[in-house]
Amino acid sequence: MGINIALDGPSGAGKSTIAKEVAKSLGYVYVDTGALYRSIGLYAVRSGKKTTSADEVVPLLDDIKLELKYIDGTQRVIMNGEDVSEEIRTPEISMAASNVSAIPEVREFLLSLQRNMAKKYNIVMDGRDIGTVIIPNAQVKIFMTASAEERANRRLKELVAKGQDVTYEEILRDINERDYNDSHRAAAPLKKADDAYELDTSSLDISGAVSAVLGIIDERLNALRPERGMAPAVNRFFFRFVRWIALVLLEIVMKVRYEDLDNIPKSGSYIIASNHHTVLDPVAIGVKMPNISAYMAKEDLFRHKIANLLKIFHAFPVKRGKGDRSALNTAIEYLDRGYNLTIFPEGTRSKDGKIGSFKSGVSFVASEANADVLPVGITKRKTKLGRTYLTVRFGKLIPYYKLKVNSLSSSELRHSRDIILNEIKGLTDE
Ligand code: DC
Repeated sequence: MGINIALDGPSGAGKSTIAKEVAKSLGYVYVDTGALYRSIGLYAVRSGKKTTSADEVVPLLDDIKLELKYIDGTQRVIMNGEDVSEEIRTPEISMAASNVSAIPEVREFLLSLQRNMAKKYNIVMDGRDIGTVIIPNAQVKIFMTASAEERANRRLKELVAKGQDVTYEEILRDINERDYNDSHRAAAPLKKADDAYELDTSSLDISGAVSAVLGIIDERLNALRPERGMAPAVNRFFFRFVRWIALVLLEIVMKVRYEDLDNIPKSGSYIIASNHHTVLDPVAIGVKMPNISAYMAKEDLFRHKIANLLKIFHAFPVKRGKGDRSALNTAIEYLDRGYNLTIFPEGTRSKDGKIGSFKSGVSFVASEANADVLPVGITKRKTKLGRTYLTVRFGKLIPYYKLKVNSLSSSELRHSRDIILNEIKGLTDE
């Protein structure tokens, strides 16, 4: 299962606008379930049926085929091959949707479509019964409310902007009526799930509400990340000693410069991903880490005499470009034992200083281990005398849930990998 965020609440609380923004910021799919009920409402209205009558509406379901498509990241609802995304947005269809949504057979009809989306993708899904009925095991549930008056005001602005001729009183009456319908119907009434976080958006503007929601998501998903300790203290003692010597060499003799050290988390285990310039890179990063790191290193290195030294420093071999499962498992094991894990996703040192193509292993490990990634950018700087020195710059920790892939498909892995790649590029000013 992917990461599912359920966003429920009455109409007009700002769910769809906010859910869309939140999904975009997380790179998740936004699913607007209201559009499905609206489409059925539209079909019933077009067929001249009474939308409050189950006897008239239920037989129509056999003739309706609904699909959700995403065009440039925007959801489109396709009903029997026709894109009805615009037509379902009128006050008449709103009321029809509210009516048909009270019919249990209609809800049943839409259940599997919604659950399949939740199974397949990382999603932000908005509706009325998402956290209670559709995905009761969603990792994050938010119940979003706002006063009826505030919602009527927002709706009025929206409709007037679209050139519709409506009054505040009409809208407020509509909203109250729909609220009553939605929360008093027998089938899956609008109701806050016990474990949902309640957010009142009455006094928040859109960007305020978006950050509030992102804040809740961050808190919940961070709490779900497996609690990992640090590497064993005995080992840390030895490493502290080695680190001290290395640090003197690096900073004084080799003049390595460090930037944004504050971004390094002081505890827990995580992945460190860096571009790769010189043989010094692993040491230059390692000495600044509060925890011991394991290193994923290319297989060739283990054919040399330094193999034993590498092993002391928890380096393990990976066959490059072959999706080496056993190396990836070793990586995950190290994280689970509390070690950090350093990966150079280019797989080898860059000859010309430019960042080469990234392998997806780093995303695989982050996703499978639910581990955050600390991006590191290494650049060479030249002095006037023509000597080169390294600068090591630490970026902000990328939370695991932004890197999470669902089906481990290559396109998902690539997307996740590119998030890391872009952060590192930013750190190297490339
Ligand atoms: O969110 P919306 O305004 O587009 O929803 C239209 C109607 O559909 C709304 O009155 C309630 C109903 N609905 C529902 O019952 N369950 C959902 N998950 C989504 C919408």
